[in-house]
Amino acid sequence: MIKISPSVLAADFSDLRREAQAMENAGVPMLHLDVMDGHFVPNLSFGAPVIRSLRPYSGLLFDVHLMISDPLRYLDDYVKAGADLITFHLESDSEPGETIRAIRAKGKKAGLALKPATPWSAAEPYLDELDMLVVMTVEPGFGGQSFMEDMMPKVRALRQELIRRGKDMDIMVDGGIAPSTAKTAVQNGANVLVAGSALFGKPDYSAAVRELLLAAQA
Ligand code: DX5
Ligand code: ZN
Repeated sequence: MIKISPSVLAADFSDLRREAQAMENAGVPMLHLDVMDGHFVPNLSFGAPVIRSLRPYSGLLFDVHLMISDPLRYLDDYVKAGADLITFHLESDSEPGETIRAIRAKGKKAGLALKPATPWSAAEPYLDELDMLVVMTVEPGFGGQSFMEDMMPKVRALRQELIRRGKDMDIMVDGGIAPSTAKTAVQNGANVLVAGSALFGKPDYSAAVRELLLAAQA
């Protein structure tokens, strides 16, 4: 099943509650929350207090994407803030296996994200412990960049490896997803699509979500 996770990075931050509710009304199952520390990536966004404030106003699954140097150190803040799925980067300073186990010990789902330069095989040792793989289809740090089609062999290789292991795990693609790129991502094995600029800022969120889903399934 194809799922859409709208990235609030492209939302109106002065009215995040209404933005999140409008997306919920558009029928998406989850909300993508991009946390950036100005160190792991060259940009700052928001942290746990914003997520905690939004939590009571949204029934969506909170998909928290940590683009921070030491996710293990701050994990508890995001658990307490109401994250449901916590994704961290393989390229961060935290030991991946330990971080995955810490997330799951808190009863949360664990995701592992790979920057464009990281090969799919770097995720191999962790595949049996994960709930989600995230293939970055842009260099993390900013919304509104163009989709890197050359990441498709990575998505395909991960999907093939999961099939080989008999695992039906979610593969998320993050960055540059729009009706024009969604189909390629799905054809190569992704089933969760993060989309910021292709959804927020559009006049009608329901129509934008529908258009993206239709394009993905075409
Ligand atoms: C990039 C973020 C993405 C970003 C996607 O570092 O991880 O989630 O918000 O934005 P769009 O869909 O505009 O490329
Ligand atoms: Zn993201």
